[in-house]
Amino acid sequence: MSPRKIIIDTDPGQDDAVAILLALASPDDLEVLGITAVAGNVPLPLTQKNARIICELAGKSDTLVFAGCDAPMARKLVTAEHVHGKTGLDGPTLPDPTMPLQDEHAVDFIIETLRAQDEGTVTLCPLGPLTNIAVALNRAPDIADRIQEIVLMGGAYFEVGNITPAAEFNIYVDPEAAKVVFACGAPITVMPLDVTHKALVTSERNAAFRDLDTPVGRAVADMTDFFERFDKEKYGSAGAPLHDPCVTAYLIQPDLFSGRHINVE
Ligand code: BDR
Ligand code: CA
Repeated sequence: MSPRKIIIDTDPGQDDAVAILLALASPDDLEVLGITAVAGNVPLPLTQKNARIICELAGKSDTLVFAGCDAPMARKLVTAEHVHGKTGLDGPTLPDPTMPLQDEHAVDFIIETLRAQDEGTVTLCPLGPLTNIAVALNRAPDIADRIQEIVLMGGAYFEVGNITPAAEFNIYVDPEAAKVVFACGAPITVMPLDVTHKALVTSERNAAFRDLDTPVGRAVADMTDFFERFDKEKYGSAGAPLHDPCVTAYLIQPDLFSGRHINVE
């Protein structure tokens, strides 16, 4: 079977980084058509730069990276340096990227790609606030029917929120965008906090990353060492939750997950 075509929409973020690394390391399963950056964990100038840092760490500097929206649709940006650090990727020391940022706006890339590829063959993977996806859907409503699936990290059901007592960060930052996306009619699979708080990097697992003794293994271990402190303190959990990697893991091995079909408004 040919690999599934995906666009990763992201606000890196250490857990976004691991999600991207997993996708780029899985060319038999996933073909990354492009990575679109959005403002979220940190402002856009940092998320687009971090996306390129990660591609270079993965040895995939030919990946197309685009900058998108620098603020939510209808409100001021809320960021999460308290979780991810000043750069968004605090932990490892990684060089500034030399690969280029594409000139095209991320929203235009999403629209053009969905129109250019065969209908139903491109999956969108939002790992941050849904601004880029919603702006694309508002500007080009015809793309909704062309999307194979949207697999996103966001929201919480039984689990308490991570940015307010009730809200999950990605949905909280741009709820107007979330409304557009959840109403668009495309098939949607959601990885909420209820799922991602089960994908923990325990100290044994992080040691296994470090013991790979590769640049990626060491960087992931250093990232996790940094960003686990937030969840350990807030939830008393055994390590950092790999929120966003649940999206790419689901695409590679869906039988790791279970869920049900529900209405979300
Ligand atoms: C989500 O918010 C961000 O802090 C993470 O990168 C993840 O996408 C978890 O609520
Ligand atoms: Ca994210």
